[in-house]
Amino acid sequence: MKFQTKPTDVTKIECDLVTVFAMQEKGKEGFVLSDDAKKIDAALGGMLTEIATFQDFEATPGNTILIHTHGKIGAMRTMLVGLGNVADLTIADTHAVAATIGRKSVGMAVKSLAVSLPHEFTSRLGHQNAAQTMVEGLMLGTYTFSKHKSTDAQKKEKHIEEVFLLTTPPKLDAVASGIGVGEAVSQAVLFARDLVNEPPSVTTPTYLAHVAKNLVKEKEQFACEILTPKEMKILGMEALLSIARGSDEEPRFIKLTYKGGGKKTVCLVGKGITFDTGGLSLKDSKNMETMKLDMAGAAVLLGVFSVLSILKPKLTVVGLISATENMPGPKAVKPGDIVRAMNGKTIEILNTDAEGRVVLADALSYAGVKIKADAIIDLATLTGACMVALGEDIAGMFTDDETLGAQLKDAAKDSGEHIWGLPLVKEYKEHLKSEIADVKNISSTRYGGAINGALFLQEFAPKGVPWAHLDIAGPAYAEKDAPLTPKGGTGFGVRMILQYLQNLR
Ligand code: BES
Ligand code: MN
Ligand code: ZN
Repeated sequence: MKFQTKPTDVTKIECDLVTVFAMQEKGKEGFVLSDDAKKIDAALGGMLTEIATFQDFEATPGNTILIHTHGKIGAMRTMLVGLGNVADLTIADTHAVAATIGRKSVGMAVKSLAVSLPHEFTSRLGHQNAAQTMVEGLMLGTYTFSKHKSTDAQKKEKHIEEVFLLTTPPKLDAVASGIGVGEAVSQAVLFARDLVNEPPSVTTPTYLAHVAKNLVKEKEQFACEILTPKEMKILGMEALLSIARGSDEEPRFIKLTYKGGGKKTVCLVGKGITFDTGGLSLKDSKNMETMKLDMAGAAVLLGVFSVLSILKPKLTVVGLISATENMPGPKAVKPGDIVRAMNGKTIEILNTDAEGRVVLADALSYAGVKIKADAIIDLATLTGACMVALGEDIAGMFTDDETLGAQLKDAAKDSGEHIWGLPLVKEYKEHLKSEIADVKNISSTRYGGAINGALFLQEFAPKGVPWAHLDIAGPAYAEKDAPLTPKGGTGFGVRMILQYLQNLR
């Protein structure tokens, strides 16, 4: 999909499909056409209004009408797209509308698409953001993962080849830079989706390490360090090593660095369980089915790092990934085993399926010992309980640092992702006390599972450094198809984190 901005008149642009918008007005039924929609309506002798009225068209977000233009305008077809009440329109709504346009276009074999950005919309978002959002919606909504299908099946897939964003000459630069950012952000999201969707026997810890190494190749501001089990042992990463013991695949600890200048250092930490069987506390087959998703946190980091050289935020970003399989092999860690994390704290492992917090204990300890960070953010598909609490579309956010919490909430809202703060109540720490070690890896109560997971991690996050934990178990993977998130890995978190990093500069 190639994007271009054009100052061409909406009735003159030659393409397979031109889309124009209609809005709702508070308290009124029906629709109001945008200026460009009116132009097309006039060129078609009022046919757009006529058909929309005849069909009782409501301009709710994503509602559409398609008309063949029979050579009366440059485009073969025109689609009227509802935007709803523009005053209520969020970035997430806008992404969904753009994704719907993309999917409908693919459905009707559109190769060249023109979208006119209405002023009701650009005046609310600004031209750059409007363009960025449109690009993201189109790219993310039409994503497919078909590399493992037969070439015949792949050939049948339809793709939009070029997209023209129509605007006026003074706004060409703003729209062009919106396109640039939108393309970079989408590229990062798709990078993360591909990694999650790839089969788990491909995306092993070693594979993730290769991906990380490749990302920094010949890039001056970047570095990558990979720790093997031997090196982990020297550092005292017994927690990560214990989870890896049940597998034939070697674990890897991955460190990525980007130096973009500025004074601040942000440390991102990702859970990279490349397959979670539950270990000896084995999952049942239904719950194991999607467990290739358990490296989604790591995938977010790799996606983010893949575009930092394009977006160039002015700060240092360090990425840490604990990568291992969680398997029930003969050497597997057993319920009742005690292991020591890199910060010296001992963990009684009572349930080997609560492995994410165990491997992150070493990553957070490492962050405390080795990195002078101004903020640490971990992303982890940590608990099913967080999905119970917030559903499939919302990540749980845990932090004691109000500033960091507010920054992440703003970044989520501005990028169209959903997060919700859950409390790190110290009273619940009681539930993690072990009789024979410093902490145990499961709670003594079955309630509040997402909070207990977060409180466990807090034991290993360095004191005095703002830290936030994002439990992305729900939104990391779409079990059903939605406009912006086709079934499978969603790349959730990439947009929010990129927005957060850019806001910090
Ligand atoms: N990877 C899972 C969490 C998960 C579940 C992510 C469903 C995405 C979808 C994690 O390792 C896990 O198994 N957590 C346990 C923790 C429990 C044993 C305390 C869970 O949520 O059941
Ligand atoms: Mn697990
Ligand atoms: Zn897991």
